[in-house]
Amino acid sequence: MRIGVLTGGGDCPGLNAVIRAVVRKAIDGYGDRVFGFRDGWRGVLEDFCDELTMESIRGILPRGGTILGSSRTNPYKRDDGVQLVGQTLEAHQLDGLIAIGGEDTLGAAKRLNDDGINVIGVPKTIDNDLGATDVTFGFDTALQVACEAIDRLHTTAESHNRILVVEVMGRNAGWIALHSGIAGGADVILIPEIPFDIDEVCRLIRRRHERGRYFSIVVAAEGATPKAGTMELVTGDVDEFGHPRLGGIGQRLEQEIEKRTGYETRATVLGHVQRGGTPTAFDRVLATRLGLAAIDAAHEGRWGMMTALHSTQIELVSLADAVAEVRRVPIEEYNRYGVLFG
Ligand code: F6P
Repeated sequence: MRIGVLTGGGDCPGLNAVIRAVVRKAIDGYGDRVFGFRDGWRGVLEDFCDELTMESIRGILPRGGTILGSSRTNPYKRDDGVQLVGQTLEAHQLDGLIAIGGEDTLGAAKRLNDDGINVIGVPKTIDNDLGATDVTFGFDTALQVACEAIDRLHTTAESHNRILVVEVMGRNAGWIALHSGIAGGADVILIPEIPFDIDEVCRLIRRRHERGRYFSIVVAAEGATPKAGTMELVTGDVDEFGHPRLGGIGQRLEQEIEKRTGYETRATVLGHVQRGGTPTAFDRVLATRLGLAAIDAAHEGRWGMMTALHSTQIELVSLADAVAEVRRVPIEEYNRYGVLFG
C-alpha cells in the first residue's frame, strides 16, 4: 500500500508519536511506502511531500511539534481544491491519506472522503474538544504546563498580595481552564461555555480578602466572554476556517478587576507555551495507539473513519460523527466545582 500522512491545524505535543507509529507499522508491519505531506492540506494541494523512512522518524517520539509542519490551509477555500488533492494522490499512486488534525482538518477530511478521496482521521488538539473521542492527545501536556504555571503564579501572588489572572488556551471549550484551574487550586475559573458576571468574579475575590486571603488566582480560557453588555472586548482577525484570533481576555480582566476592587492585579498569558515542547508519557502512549490503529484501518479499507479513544479501547468512529459537534464542558460539571471558588 502507498499512504500519505499530514498534520493540520494548530500543532500539538504527540503529533510526532503518531507519525512514528504509522510509519513503523506501515513499513515493518505491512511493507508499505509512506509519504509525508508538508504543512497540512497545503502540502497536498501543492504536491509537496517526502517519503518517510525508518531513518526519517528516528528520535522523534519525545519531540514536540510536527516534523511535517502544519498550517490552517482549507482545501475547500479554493474551487479546484478537491481536484488538486485527487491529482496529488494519483501522481504518487496513493491508496489514501491519514490526516491528523482537529475539527477543521478533520472537517475537510470528511468532505474530501465524501468527494471520493480515501481518508482516515486521527484526532489531535490540546483543547480536548472533539466530540467522538474521550480525550485527545496534547491535552494532558497542555494541562501539565498550565498547572505548573498556576503553581508558580500562586507563590508570587501570595508574596505580593496580588490578584493574578492566567489566560489559557481554549476558544470554544474550557477544558484546559477548568482542569488546570481545579488542579492548581484557582479561586475563579472562567470558561467559554458560561458567560461570566464580572461583579460575581469581584465578589469572590473580595470574599477571600474578608477571610484573610489577600491574593487570588483567576484562570480564564481565551474564549471566555462576559455577559452581554457588562464589559467591552477586543476582537481580532479570522483564519481560513473563520475562527477569530483570540487573546486579550486576560488583560481586560486585569484592568476590570483592579478598577472594581482596588486590589493590585496582573495578567499572564500562557499562549503557545502550552502547545510546545515534549509530550507527557500519557500523550505519547495515546498518540502511538491512535497511529497504529490508523494504519490498520487503512489496510482494512475503513476510509472515512477516525481512530478514537473510548474508555480504555481504541475504536473507529465515522469522520461525520467526529466533527458533528464540539465537546464542551457540561454546565453541571462546572457547577460541581462551585464550592471551591472564592
Ligand atoms: O486549536 C488549538 C489552539 O491552540 C486553540 O486553543 C487556540 O485558540 C488556537 O489553536 C490558536 O491558534 P494559532 O496558533 O493559529 O493562533
